[in-house]
Amino acid sequence: MTEMQLSGLREDLFNEAVRQQLDEWIAQYPAGQSQSALIPCLHVLQSHHDGWLSKPLMQALALYLDVPEISVYEVATFYTMFDLSPVGRHKICLCTNISCQLCGSEKMAEHIQKKLGIGFGETTQDGKYTLAEVECLGACVGAPMLLLDRQYHEHLTPEKIDAILDEIT
Ligand code: FES
Repeated sequence: MTEMQLSGLREDLFNEAVRQQLDEWIAQYPAGQSQSALIPCLHVLQSHHDGWLSKPLMQALALYLDVPEISVYEVATFYTMFDLSPVGRHKICLCTNISCQLCGSEKMAEHIQKKLGIGFGETTQDGKYTLAEVECLGACVGAPMLLLDRQYHEHLTPEKIDAILDEIT
């Protein structure tokens, strides 16, 4: 998606395909409550913008939803599922919170970092992977676990991590 004009018609903010998806989410809520659609709308924009949210993109969404810019920034900066700078084609979120830690997430972190040659918050040189350290993802029963793009992988072992990553082309 190219950056958008921040003046003029609301219809000029995003292309038709994006507007259609945003409008579907906005229509899920009562008139005047478009702020409630903020999270799914951010997902829509992020997926159309190589997996991350630029400031102009968030400003345009604020205009589109008719909410203060700060409301968009508050949500986008709070959740680890949103990225505010460029990321790799695949994002790996490794949970290191208590349940996962007790079940060996530290060892998993070492293994992934060594395998990819990057630390938390970094992207591989080929732009394929970004590795993030995240708090509990609500899958403690499957600890240690990670989220790869939108897929949960549980009961990790180094071998399982190898198989998961080797499967990605
Ligand atoms: S602590 Fe890792 S998913 Fe809950």
